[in-house]
Amino acid sequence: MFDRVAARYDLANDVLSLGQDRAWRREVVEAVRPRAGQLILDLAAGTGTSSEPFLHSGASVIPTDLSFGMLLVGKQRRPDMSFVAADALKLPYADASFHAVTISFGLRNVEDTTAALNEMRRVIKPGGTLVICEFSTPTWRPFRTLYSNYLVAALPRIATLVSSSPAAYEYLAESIQAWPDQQGLATMIEECGWQDVEWRNLSGGIVALHRARA
Ligand SMILES: C[S@@+](CC[C@H](N)C(=O)[O-])C[C@H]1O[C@@H](n2cnc3c(N)ncnc32)[C@H](O)[C@@H]1O
Repeated sequence: MFDRVAARYDLANDVLSLGQDRAWRREVVEAVRPRAGQLILDLAAGTGTSSEPFLHSGASVIPTDLSFGMLLVGKQRRPDMSFVAADALKLPYADASFHAVTISFGLRNVEDTTAALNEMRRVIKPGGTLVICEFSTPTWRPFRTLYSNYLVAALPRIATLVSSSPAAYEYLAESIQAWPDQQGLATMIEECGWQDVEWRNLSGGIVALHRARA
């Protein structure tokens, strides 16, 4: 599916999120608090849009993704970045390799969330930081209803105008609605052995940033 959306993925993101995605990505970098010399894994990095904001932090970022289509578009647009093709469930990295692991709008798409959280814990150094940026549940009920209508009715229609694979955006709406809310995801993270799990809502809870320590 991601191979088919790759060509116009970044454009579709900007349009469908009304430009909000750029602010969300800056928040991810702030939550990771990268330092010079650190090694950061950006998992499910797609075309590298979520990895790019780390480039000026002094840390090295390794964008890793399963979709060759996304990686090819990424490599064409961002030739200086070291893209790696790999499955989040079976990473080609040694134990305790990274100072931080981040995954933006990717965990929802991985087949086995718990297995992915465990694999991320394997490759992070003790005390390292995990940051998950993912769609979540708006906290104010009237806004939640409005947003739910947007997901079901408007988003797939707008996607037909801007995406190379509009059907993928029907899946997006369904997968967001099926995804656990803020507390639900925090519990899953804790159950995988992560410490100090906390979250922060962005854009009223459309997106939540979960942070934890290995
Ligand atoms: C919505 S995109 C997010 C891309 C990027 N992180 C961003 O914020 O723009 C989701 C990505 O998850 C990747 N993905 C899905 N399952 C995966 C897996 N098991 N291992 C690695 N990447 C996976 C897809 O290939 C896709 O590029």
